[in-house]
Amino acid sequence: MRVLVLNGPNLNRLGKREKEAYGTFTLEELEQDLVEFSYHHHIELICRQSNHEGELIDWIHGAGDEGLSGIVLNAGAYTHTSIAIRDAIAAIEVPVIEVHISNVHKREEFRHHSYISPVTIGQIVGFGQDVYKLALQALILKQERG
Ligand code: DQA
Repeated sequence: MRVLVLNGPNLNRLGKREKEAYGTFTLEELEQDLVEFSYHHHIELICRQSNHEGELIDWIHGAGDEGLSGIVLNAGAYTHTSIAIRDAIAAIEVPVIEVHISNVHKREEFRHHSYISPVTIGQIVGFGQDVYKLALQALILKQERG
């Protein structure tokens, strides 16, 4: 299995930004942890982060062209604003799981709506950094079921 973990805007600030919402772990620590987890589960993991919508879209298209087994996507605030990212997901066959570190449904109302949820296979929110591993587990289970 080859999987892309894609983080959007401001997630490079993890560990420094709004710790009460996102915890104290850094993006580097998170990615390292996921690489180790993936190694034990025979997943080849690619981790990317960008603050730029177009770059995220290019990587989503690339994952589609390469036929990856899945994308774990935390689109950050673009979740609530970007029809372009939604269309990029709709334009590929690769299954996408939407994740959010915080429970967006418990926060400000503008975070309750996601443009991307309708084109993902599911959403995992609110379990802190574990949302990424839970999403990888979901992809493993999906693969096993065929
Ligand atoms: C987030 C939630 C978004 O509303 C916010 O804009 C983020 C992070 C999360 O992981 O909880 O940047 O996606």
